[in-house]
Amino acid sequence: MNSFKINSFDHCELYVSNAKQAAHYYQSALGFQPIAYQGLETGNRNKVSYVMKQNQIRFVLSSPLVPGTEIGQHIDKHGDGVKDISFSVDNTENAWRETTDRGAESVSKPKMIEDEKGEAIIATIKTYGDTTHTFVEREKYNGVFLPGYQVMDVQTVANPTGLVHIDHVVGNQPNGEMEPTCKFYEKVFGWHRFWSVDDKDLSTEFSSLRSIVMANENEIIKMPINEPAEGLKKSQIQEFVEFYDGPGIQHVAMSTKDIISTVKQLRSNGVELLKTPKTYYEKLKNRIGDFDEDIDILAELGILLDSDENGYMLQIFTKPIQDRPTLFYEIIQRKGSNSFGKGNFKALFESIEKEQALRGNL
Ligand code: FE2
Repeated sequence: MNSFKINSFDHCELYVSNAKQAAHYYQSALGFQPIAYQGLETGNRNKVSYVMKQNQIRFVLSSPLVPGTEIGQHIDKHGDGVKDISFSVDNTENAWRETTDRGAESVSKPKMIEDEKGEAIIATIKTYGDTTHTFVEREKYNGVFLPGYQVMDVQTVANPTGLVHIDHVVGNQPNGEMEPTCKFYEKVFGWHRFWSVDDKDLSTEFSSLRSIVMANENEIIKMPINEPAEGLKKSQIQEFVEFYDGPGIQHVAMSTKDIISTVKQLRSNGVELLKTPKTYYEKLKNRIGDFDEDIDILAELGILLDSDENGYMLQIFTKPIQDRPTLFYEIIQRKGSNSFGKGNFKALFESIEKEQALRGNL
């Protein structure tokens, strides 16, 4: 039993080479509103950060302002990617003390940060690769994000795309590292195994993967952990691990209450989404049975659908959002189902492999 409670995902911080331009993409393509900023104007000489928000989702986009920084080294090694998955907790001190007592490596001890809007307590520990988890205790803070950030002077208001909250965050591991990583979450956080697939469920003609979904006590936080499995050709997980140069965040899944409208908006904003073969929809009716959506619209947009005993879910994936074939996003609408789309993996993989082949990496 933990002496601290994780309330939700607080935010994800990405290290990117040009935060100003990335912020524009998150606003104009993904529909996030810039709400807070820190940089030269706020007295930060080394680092600039933009906080982008849509409903309960917050991304912090950070770039270095000078050479020789930890952020710069991270970008050189990994390309643009997710550095930190932050959790909102009721007690940062307890979260940091317990996780480090159970073997997590500390990056920064609990510290109180404050400005005229109140105070917050933050601490950071390491997880897989160069990825970190920050604990954020923000009950006594009333500002727009965290102390040290100024309210963004916004020139244009984003058109929201209906993204509501972070459903799950997936980490790719090198071969053989999935089990130790899951054990880390069991031991350090006291999490449990929520769902899993192995290479028997999950192989195409060419490649496969194994995945275990780790969840916290109240199952609000779900973090699937993947590793490549042997196939005839290179697994997409292996492609990630090579281009990210180690383990890291493969995708962040964001929920919507109306996936058809969200996907239409994302498409018209220029977001590149994976395509789904027409044969997928021919099989879908037999596989799933009844569902509310018009199958022709799903087919036109490439939205995938899968069911379990509790209901169904709809999902679609973007192409990688930077030049390296690493981080991408998932859009998901759950209608009863809490699963992770096992029935879609084959169609999804075949689509990803088409892209992989174009990159010369299959
Ligand atoms: Fe996912």
